[in-house]
Amino acid sequence: MNLKETIKKDKKCVVLTGSGVSAESGIPTFRGEKGLWKEYRPEELATPQAFTRNPPLVWKWYNWRRGIIGKAEPNPAHYVISDMENFFTDFILITQNIDGLHRKAGNKKILELHGNIWENKCFNCEKKFGEIDSLEPQKCECGGYIRPNVVWFGESLDREVLETAFLKSKEAEICFVLGTSGLVQPAASLPYVAKENGAYIIEINLERTPISSIVDEFIPGKAGKVMEGMKKLFV
Ligand code: OAD
Repeated sequence: MNLKETIKKDKKCVVLTGSGVSAESGIPTFRGEKGLWKEYRPEELATPQAFTRNPPLVWKWYNWRRGIIGKAEPNPAHYVISDMENFFTDFILITQNIDGLHRKAGNKKILELHGNIWENKCFNCEKKFGEIDSLEPQKCECGGYIRPNVVWFGESLDREVLETAFLKSKEAEICFVLGTSGLVQPAASLPYVAKENGAYIIEINLERTPISSIVDEFIPGKAGKVMEGMKKLFV
């Protein structure tokens, strides 16, 4: 099917993004050659156990990541996804990214599956905090340490966010999957749910992923470049 024929305003559209979408903004992905998990072991930094063991180390690592993310600007992929939100009457963006760049590009209908690096919460009582500019981890009034409001390995995703993500994927008629390795659950299941319910799936990635086997169209390339080329479809 021709993409131009497939893309219609009144179709229900779901976009699922992963770290590859922010790669052209200068934010490292997790896997692959220069991926974050090549240099750092997730279990040493991105787990509740790691934070319990050494709060200052984990806080410092997130400060380093905030430093990179803070300097980053959205790229054409983020901006075209923002155009998509205005184009489709029924639209939701489901992202695994914690960098907040989709919001910065203008998207409002976002489900942040893995949280947001600019938000914080108490490790003990879960009280929410906004941005904290400190070299050392701070404590909540309950005595617990304050940590980034992101999902760590071994932790559950927010139930309501996850339920909405599955429901929207089930209802989707068009589903775009951009810049994700499709290796991390439950996010990786969402395109399968969409497919089972008849959605037309378009994947954009530098390379094929496990999801590629079920997609209707695989478009190889950098998300920013590919989306820039598709921009005219969403006006
Ligand atoms: P990965 O690092 O696993 O995968 C990045 C994907 O983006 C790969 O498939 C790359 O081929 C692709 N890619 C890289 N640059 C690209 C570009 N310019 N354009 C298009 N595609 C590009 O990242 P995620 O799939 O996002 O979770 O990882 C999922 C989760 O694993 C993350 O949210 C994080 C991590 O552990 C948590 O921290 C909970």
